[in-house]
Amino acid sequence: MLRLTSSFVLLAALIPRALSQSPVWGQCGGIGWTGPTTCASGTVCTEYSAYYSQCIPSSQAPPPPTTVAPPPPPPTSAPPTSVPSTSAPSSTPTGTGLNAIAKSIGKTYFGTATDNSELSDAPYTAILDNINEFGQITPANSMKWDATEPSRGQFTFTNADAIANLAKKNGQLLRGHNCVWYSQLPSWVSNGGFNAATLTSIIQTHCSTVVGRYKGSVYSWDVVNEPFNDDGTWRTDVFYNTLGTSYVSIALQAARAADPNAKLYINDYNIEGQSAKTTAMLNLVKSLKQQGVPLDGIGLQGHFIVGELPGNLQQTLEQFTALGVEVAYTELDIRMSLPATQASLAQQQKDYQTVVTACTNVPGCVGVTIWDFTDKYSWVPNTFSGQGEACPWDQNLQKKPAYQGIVSGLEA
Ligand code: G3I
Repeated sequence: MLRLTSSFVLLAALIPRALSQSPVWGQCGGIGWTGPTTCASGTVCTEYSAYYSQCIPSSQAPPPPTTVAPPPPPPTSAPPTSVPSTSAPSSTPTGTGLNAIAKSIGKTYFGTATDNSELSDAPYTAILDNINEFGQITPANSMKWDATEPSRGQFTFTNADAIANLAKKNGQLLRGHNCVWYSQLPSWVSNGGFNAATLTSIIQTHCSTVVGRYKGSVYSWDVVNEPFNDDGTWRTDVFYNTLGTSYVSIALQAARAADPNAKLYINDYNIEGQSAKTTAMLNLVKSLKQQGVPLDGIGLQGHFIVGELPGNLQQTLEQFTALGVEVAYTELDIRMSLPATQASLAQQQKDYQTVVTACTNVPGCVGVTIWDFTDKYSWVPNTFSGQGEACPWDQNLQKKPAYQGIVSGLEA
């Protein structure tokens, strides 16, 4: 009788799983997945990464080997065939240089954004590759949705891999940027008219595939970028309009499953001082933590204007770290009206010092990333007419007074 009962219980436990199938676009496998592993008729279980397989209509399913681009060939200048681990950079920064000083005061890195088109500029890369200056890099564009999944289920990683492999070659940490953002979002996502279940699946596929590709290689991911308007209300993009605030936890959970060791961030601008947007972000952190949603950090972008820094920078960092997350300035630059003057460059030096000092003074502030280090490649003049000179190195790759401002801030 006992044997019969046990067998029955076992059978009963197995039947629903054996019989249930994932619907079209549903998950059908991946490490940690306990749901159905077979797909509804007319769909094929397609592996996107070790962490995520999905039921794709047979007519749309790409042949498995080419669904995800194969690992990149080794860079001509170095042997690695895979992207780096999250372990500390192998090259040890010594002496002077922004990263060397940052490390010496206990920070995890001082870093910079970079972009693929810049990597053929040898004088530029001579500075970028210098571990004493930069212990971390962020791809400014090549890991974004439009760059990595321009069509549904078709992933391209050539440019993203190039940056990831550069970080590995240089012994630099990598920040992933980003999984879910309203901008640089292909129209197949923003105008797809998807219902909630389908958009959920699309987010899961995208985040798990992109994050999974660099599993073990990324220090931190900007999983969600710029979710708020400046008045602290939610940005009404396709994600919010379809899923409400739940898209944030959907993305974070997919990212956590894909790379359990990457620090997961939400990243935004105009949250560096005390503003309605800061309050909204603080409340979001509290709410996610209460719900047990994985979240490790808040990225404060730090796109500032010379002479117009918000107040209370340090207090804001402390408010976030008090909630149990780390913080970082992730995209720091401080623009000015052109042409630059001695006075505006001097004010810029002070402003860089003030921002970096705030990070220096807060133990939970792990690092500062500048949004490219040279005015030669800054995004600012293309976006703000008549403004520029936002970076610590000038157009000719010469250090500006701002550089010394950063040094002073790190030595504060
Ligand atoms: O790749 C095309 C190229 O083929 C074309 O010839 C050229 C013509 O304009 O455009 C190129 O694409 C540009 C792309 O950068 C790569 O250079 C886009 O037009 C341009 O809009 C895009 O700008 C990027 C911007 O995000 C877009 O929102 C900047 O490089 C990038 O630095 C900037 O980064 C953002 C962060 O991701 C989020 N926080 C704000 C930050 C600054 O805007």
